[in-house]
Amino acid sequence: MYSTVETSAQRAGFKALGKLESLEHINNGVVGITSFGQFRILVMDRSVFRVSVTRNADFDDFSYAVIASPKPVDFHVKEEDGHIVISTDLISLRISRDPVRFKFYDSAGNIINEDDDAFGTSWIGTEVTAYKKLQQGERFVGLGEKNGDLDRRGKGYLNWNTDKFAYDQDTDPIYCSLPFYIGIHSGLAYGMFFDNSNKSHFNFGASNDRFSSFMAEDGDMNYYLIHDHNVAKIIEDYTYLTGRMELPPMWSIGYQQCRYSYYPDSKVLDIARSFRQKQIPADVIVLDIHYMDSYKIFTWDPVKFSNPAALIRELRDMNFHVVLMCDPGIKIEEGYQPYELGKQEDVFLKYPDNTYYAGEVWPGWCHFPDFSDPKTRQWWGGLFDEYVNLGVDGFWNDMNEIASWGQMMPEHVEFHYEGKGALTKKGRNIYGLQMARSTFEGTKKLLNGKRPFNLTRSAFSGIQRYSAVWTGDNVADDEHMLLGVRLVNSFGLTGVAFTGYDVGGFAGEASVDLFARWVSIAAFSPFFRGHSMLNSRDAEPWAFGEAVEEISRNYINLRYRLMPYIYSLFFEATQTGMPVCRSLAIDYTHDDHVYDSLFQNQYLFGPWFLICPVSSVDKFCKVYLPEGEWYEFHSGKQYKGSQQVIVEAPVERLPVFIKAGSIIPMQSVTQYTSATADDTLQLHFYSGDNYSEFLYYEDDGDTYHFEDGEYYRRNISYDPNNQIIKFNAAEGNFKSKYTKIQLIFHGFDGLDRIMVNGRECAVEQVEFSYLKAITKFDPVGKEGKVIKEQVKAIKVEDDDGGLEIVW
Ligand code: NOJ
Repeated sequence: MYSTVETSAQRAGFKALGKLESLEHINNGVVGITSFGQFRILVMDRSVFRVSVTRNADFDDFSYAVIASPKPVDFHVKEEDGHIVISTDLISLRISRDPVRFKFYDSAGNIINEDDDAFGTSWIGTEVTAYKKLQQGERFVGLGEKNGDLDRRGKGYLNWNTDKFAYDQDTDPIYCSLPFYIGIHSGLAYGMFFDNSNKSHFNFGASNDRFSSFMAEDGDMNYYLIHDHNVAKIIEDYTYLTGRMELPPMWSIGYQQCRYSYYPDSKVLDIARSFRQKQIPADVIVLDIHYMDSYKIFTWDPVKFSNPAALIRELRDMNFHVVLMCDPGIKIEEGYQPYELGKQEDVFLKYPDNTYYAGEVWPGWCHFPDFSDPKTRQWWGGLFDEYVNLGVDGFWNDMNEIASWGQMMPEHVEFHYEGKGALTKKGRNIYGLQMARSTFEGTKKLLNGKRPFNLTRSAFSGIQRYSAVWTGDNVADDEHMLLGVRLVNSFGLTGVAFTGYDVGGFAGEASVDLFARWVSIAAFSPFFRGHSMLNSRDAEPWAFGEAVEEISRNYINLRYRLMPYIYSLFFEATQTGMPVCRSLAIDYTHDDHVYDSLFQNQYLFGPWFLICPVSSVDKFCKVYLPEGEWYEFHSGKQYKGSQQVIVEAPVERLPVFIKAGSIIPMQSVTQYTSATADDTLQLHFYSGDNYSEFLYYEDDGDTYHFEDGEYYRRNISYDPNNQIIKFNAAEGNFKSKYTKIQLIFHGFDGLDRIMVNGRECAVEQVEFSYLKAITKFDPVGKEGKVIKEQVKAIKVEDDDGGLEIVW
């Protein structure tokens, strides 16, 4: 009786995928028709299954995010206990017939991820949701630029790219949508990528104890389940789907100085000269909106920047690159070229009545290019020729959520969406991605063999192919500094390696100690840029007094000394998608301490540096050393892992540890990345019990010649059991910048006799320290505060052939 009464859910049209009626085998998978909706499983790779579910006649297969097609892969489909079972050697998917529900297992038969039995994939109106049973102790990490804790269990998130000035720890959404997360439970991990650009919602057991779910307000259920040996492999698989970054120009990973805004041109030059005079390394000056005439893109202010060619030439003479702000809004103004041309080419977003959509932003009322139309991307990309001719090679895509005053873009704006058509609900989240694509592709063409640098605020999955991303308008406080670290680490888990935050905080004003701390943490971030808001105090590294200037110089110097290491990390990101900043969830996935709010900000910078971000008010802090052995970077002091330790954290020195077995290339300090360092590449080896290796990479840092073999690549290995360090012969046609190698041994006992390729080599005793004393704290001559580590070293001439070092 009761069951015949229509429930509210039924009245609302709640309906789940039905009973299997027929199954067809297709290339790489199967298609099943059910009594309500159809599904398709595609085996993309042994570790990646794609699940599509639709109520329509056809599956929606267009994606801006995914660039991979299914690989030829060995998989089997069979019937077992009334289920359809599709398996590779890594994943087995069991599909029940009535109703159709999906359960994924690993090769040992453990459940990876399973549908909620009742709800599976279901619809309410146009909304489509996948409900997944919460597993015992399940954690969730990733989802890119989302605020909050590393472990997202118990929280819900919305993907709806939004301009959010001075957001806070809990604000959601902000600028980017990266609908990929990693689930962790029972000693295993899986990746889940929900490829649907509509406004979407994720629930990781928020306000319920039954399921995690992901829902899009429209379109198909379309997800990729990834299961592989570990989290690093899952990121590699995810970036096989969505692509990897190109090698950035080396100058873009040096220090960048920005401000909203430096003007006039003489001020810009003063800033650049100050860096050189004060011997604080830097590569970039960024020009924010005031360089433009009334904020109109592709113009210059005739008074404040009357001779851009001369300005840029002078900056280039001082070895500064220029990055220019490029907002998408095109001012509606008769006679303004981009507006007139845009109308002529008909490139702007429209309402359904075929009139252009207008929104108000910096220049006033604007139209917005529809970057989801190939014609528009082509047009926009071409507009950069004047900038490029002036010598500009860096571009900054801001306000591209799309931001406009009022922050309420109408829902019936039409996007071309590669000819498929979409309204705001589907088009908005990919606007930033397509703008970045258009800017990157256009400027790459114009730069004619040089690598462009592109930075965006708004993004969708796949953004790593076109742009770096920064975390927008943060706030000058300690919480924000630490939150920025988590955002960067979360981006890394989501395939975006080149990210950063405004150092010093955009809104508000940093205290002296906060600025010092922020620079020292950011020296270990992929994108390293100081930036601050209009009408706030000066915020250059020298603007906070003598001591902070010295601290900043110390850490920026260290950044430049580490350039050979950092550049090799970027190379790795281009090959495997492995991020530069690595959440501890990557290597220590099943260690509960990693998710503890006390330790969740710690991360690995590349494979070897354990960075322990600490607030500017804490002068001591508790850090968690994961399993293994660790060395305190500044003293060389050894620590056992799997323990919590309390360490000093004075404002001039960030707690940093080095993993035993590390192989770290460094060079002498330079004032900009293309300057010649001395002829010696330093390689630091930290004694450990296990074999380790590092892939060292060099090229000209600026062009695409590496694609024709002009690179220098060398595997370096450390084998403590056999007491051998090996340098493989260098691969590639590029000549290394260094002709000598100094090997520096940390924590090694003895070492009185070292043989290099069978010949004994003189062992020296040297002092290592990466920080200079802060004269303000330590008057000249009394460098008591800087601990110098006493280490053994050897120096060898390098002819790029194989080297065997035995001790
Ligand atoms: C908003 C950006 O987030 C900020 O970094 C920039 O300075 C202002 N727009 C002005 O262009």
